[in-house]
Amino acid sequence: MKAMTCHTVLGIETSCDETAAAVLRLENGRATILSETVRSQVEAHAPYGGVVPEIAARAHADITDQIVEKALKDSGLRLDELDAVAATSGPGLIGGVMVGMMTGKALAFAAQKPFIPVNHLEGHALSPRLAEDCPFPYLLLLVSGGHCQFIEVRGLGEYKRLGTTIDDAAGEAFDKLAKLLGLGFPGGPAVEKTAEGGDPARYKLPRPLMDRDGLDMSFAGLKTAAARIIEQNELSETDKRDLCASYQAAIADCLSRRAARALAGFEATGAKRLVVAGGVAANTAIRTELDRVAREQGASLLAPPLRHCTDNAAMIALAGAEHLAAGLVMDNAMSFSARPRWPLDEASALSDPVYGGGKRGAKA
Ligand code: KG4
Ligand code: ZN
Repeated sequence: MKAMTCHTVLGIETSCDETAAAVLRLENGRATILSETVRSQVEAHAPYGGVVPEIAARAHADITDQIVEKALKDSGLRLDELDAVAATSGPGLIGGVMVGMMTGKALAFAAQKPFIPVNHLEGHALSPRLAEDCPFPYLLLLVSGGHCQFIEVRGLGEYKRLGTTIDDAAGEAFDKLAKLLGLGFPGGPAVEKTAEGGDPARYKLPRPLMDRDGLDMSFAGLKTAAARIIEQNELSETDKRDLCASYQAAIADCLSRRAARALAGFEATGAKRLVVAGGVAANTAIRTELDRVAREQGASLLAPPLRHCTDNAAMIALAGAEHLAAGLVMDNAMSFSARPRWPLDEASALSDPVYGGGKRGAKA
């Protein structure tokens, strides 16, 4: 008979522009979120059209303790009633990651509980398990402002990166078009709104890498093509609508064609599942296309509720609790250093480092 397990973990997330804390209980594999609190910094970054690392770090430093305090209070638990404290320890904007990680370490030390450094990408990879029964294995398409990758989630700690963007993330591509058109930040929702009623076939935009094997993607050329159209024409409101619709359709097309190929090569023991997470998963045109290709492959599309698709602390607490339940706790976690880059699948990242240096996706 399997032993009953119950672990209650505080999770902290500060790797980009959300300060978040959550308390979660994992009981015999079922997660219950006891509390979750999130504060977005979107207004602080909006004037710059993107996340400014220094502003993010300072904003996290200002409120992480209050957010954690609120999450604990809302859970009705005291620190000493927790089994562990987990915090995103990379990859991400390093200033913010350090704030959350140091807060987590200090609380764990004070309460004499284990500290669990969590890979933010593992949090996203496990996020569908927050709400529903989502047994391993499944395919994850993570599409946000910082990530755009296909990951085969085989089991806890067993992640295979199947493909990734070689330049911009899909969310970044939306943000860049919004900036070019002066639609505001974050760009994705603004582009989606502007695209309503637009003609997705009006502008012929590129689908880079789609003629190549494998599952890598590229979105930088799309932005360049749109920039050229904007520079060379005086766009009317109808033109803008059509451009946004065409751009959105190009991204949906690239993601869904890659998803179809990923699903075709994915051998599942039971039902095939495609999970889409990340802020871009909010986009209806993209979801519709992913749903269509999933059905064609006899698979189902799962999209966690939006608050768990985007950055949140419940997924970090879940990753911590799953590690604890599996006995996968690091011995020297207190001396773990924050990692700006921390691939989930280290082996693939080493053998095929599609990401070079520079600013290509801080969270890659
Ligand atoms: O996951 P997320 O909240 O933060 C990270 O980047 O980790 O994702 C934010 C990204 C932004 O680039 C935003 O423009 C994009 O997700 N996004 C969308 C939509 N909502 C948010 N992109 C397309 N359509 C949307 N409705
Ligand atoms: Zn994220």
